[in-house]
Amino acid sequence: MSSAEKQRVVVLGVSGGIACYKAVELVRILVRTGFKVQIIMTRGAMEFVTPLTFQTLSGNPVATETFNLTQESEIGHINLADAADLFVIAPATANVIGKISNGIADDLLTTVLMATKAPVLIVPAMNVHMYDNPILQENLRKLRRIGYHTMEPAEGFLACGYEGKGRLPDAEKIAEEIERLLKKKDLSTERVLITAGPNREPLDPVRYISNRSSGKMGYALVRAALRRGADVTLVTGPTALEPPIGARVVAVTTAAEMREAVLREYPNCTAVIMAAAVADYRPVMAAEKKIKRSHGAVELRLEPNPDILKELGQSKDGKWLVGFAAETEDLTANAQKKLREKNLDMVIANNVAEEGSGFDGDTNIATIVDRTGAIRSLPLMSKDDLADRVFDHYLALKSRR
Ligand code: PMT
Repeated sequence: MSSAEKQRVVVLGVSGGIACYKAVELVRILVRTGFKVQIIMTRGAMEFVTPLTFQTLSGNPVATETFNLTQESEIGHINLADAADLFVIAPATANVIGKISNGIADDLLTTVLMATKAPVLIVPAMNVHMYDNPILQENLRKLRRIGYHTMEPAEGFLACGYEGKGRLPDAEKIAEEIERLLKKKDLSTERVLITAGPNREPLDPVRYISNRSSGKMGYALVRAALRRGADVTLVTGPTALEPPIGARVVAVTTAAEMREAVLREYPNCTAVIMAAAVADYRPVMAAEKKIKRSHGAVELRLEPNPDILKELGQSKDGKWLVGFAAETEDLTANAQKKLREKNLDMVIANNVAEEGSGFDGDTNIATIVDRTGAIRSLPLMSKDDLADRVFDHYLALKSRR
């Protein structure tokens, strides 16, 4: 970081788990990288590491108590909340995650977090069964929906004697994530149109054909684009997800409605990313009344829906088009074919038959192909991380033009 740049502030909340000792290493790395690190410790954290250790390494007083007059005048909990460029909780215990996901602010850490406008990164570390507990998982999902960032714990031998997922990731990894989240608003000149979710094609007033898309991939792209400063329009099929705050949302049901909405929004955008699993077929006729079981066997006739992305590719007018390819074999070759045939700039291919990839889960495994012929195979990662990789690739490609 050059001396002319304003020193960025990471407020690091440390909650009580054995992994506290790794937060010490994290502070060392962050200070070395040039961050100002302000630390808040919970009472539990102080059972594992002393505030003096963090104070010595960060060079800043450590905040531990809400009602301590000296600390409040020296540090000030609202000052801390305002000063943060990024608020990190590492390690985050199940207790702290439970409290913040339910709006409880009963100690200094949770109070300052409640008052901050900075982006928040939660790094859980705990026993594997605690981490798998559906209550904890639901709390994390809730935080992600609100826009908090989370990191997956690492797997391995845990201090409690179990083996599994629950270790605090290495300090270097957390520091990398912090750097990534603090990246400047590199999409601030972009107006991105993103599609997500499935379509429903009605058979009669009570039935439809659809597919397994949950919308998670598309919504992760929306969150990443918003975080990086883009103006975002989301055209979404029916999903169970909360639309990310800050995007303009157009809700549609059928592929025909999705096409209409996309074509309407197209002139105003700089890029389109189609993560939606557009229904390729629709029933030739939707019955006006519920089809009765007493009619016996029913023959279903389907006709193809228009290919929305292909249609956009025929009138690009300087816009960038990014498609997804849901494949079960020959990932790269099929993605390259779609890239050519639909006149796209990038295709993100995911093998929807592979464990951890494709529909519904929180993770994906993708290969990015682009118009220059580059092929980039990515490992298993969260859909949020993949969304960032897509935009990183997009910007790199655009800068080469
Ligand atoms: O929603 P999730 O549960 O998170 O799952 C994510 C996902 C698997 C749906 C997503 O990652 C994905 O792969 N989306 C694209 C699915 C798809 O329709 O793939 P395709 O290979 O059939 O289509 C290629 C591209 O053309 C896609 O960008 C698609 O949006 C677009 N398309 C397809 C058909 C059609 N009639 N019109 C289109 O525009």
